[in-house]
Amino acid sequence: MFLQHLTSTFAAAMKQQVNIAILASGKGSNANRICSFFKNHPKVRVKLIISNKPDAGVLSVADEHAVKKMVITNDRLTSDLLLALRAESVDFVVLAGFLRVVPEEVVQAFRGKMVNIHPALLPAYGGKGMYGNRVHQAVLSAGEKESGITIHQVTEQYDEGDIIFQKACKVNPGDTPDTLAEKIHQLEHRHYPEVIENLILNTFF
Ligand code: GRF
Repeated sequence: MFLQHLTSTFAAAMKQQVNIAILASGKGSNANRICSFFKNHPKVRVKLIISNKPDAGVLSVADEHAVKKMVITNDRLTSDLLLALRAESVDFVVLAGFLRVVPEEVVQAFRGKMVNIHPALLPAYGGKGMYGNRVHQAVLSAGEKESGITIHQVTEQYDEGDIIFQKACKVNPGDTPDTLAEKIHQLEHRHYPEVIENLILNTFF
């Protein structure tokens, strides 16, 4: 026990900088906020942005922030993703609109060090096929009075890891999937970077 404590304290003390990789499939507005937030951060650096879609907007976000980018298509994820993360000495993985299940060996290698953001209050409105406006449409069709965001650990199952943070917003009578998406994006942009920062500081230092 004492030895274990000593070892982890030593490891934390030795750690100068934590490298993040962001995985995304879409336009990358969350990736954009995360890159801005950690620019010049003393301990955390966005080292790599990976997309499984060659035409994803998030790749331009990488260019804007001068972050290394990489495309790994779905057929190569199992063989290449872990290697890519290791090659860039990635310590922590952030999913931000990554529409693909993460290969098991990557989940295992980054257990407790990989987070996802979901645009609803899990465990409701999660699981396979629940992404983007499909989530908001389901929330509206059910007549919910509120929705929100959930930041959670990533496990082998879609949207099932431990919940780290949630924040709710009101659903108004006139809301459409687009207006709800807009409200939810605002919450995401406001909270995701800070939650990531806290988690990293608690995990590594
Ligand atoms: C976000 O709403 C997030 O909750 C979900 O995918 C969306 C990504 O949006 N997982 P963006 O590409 O960051 O704009």
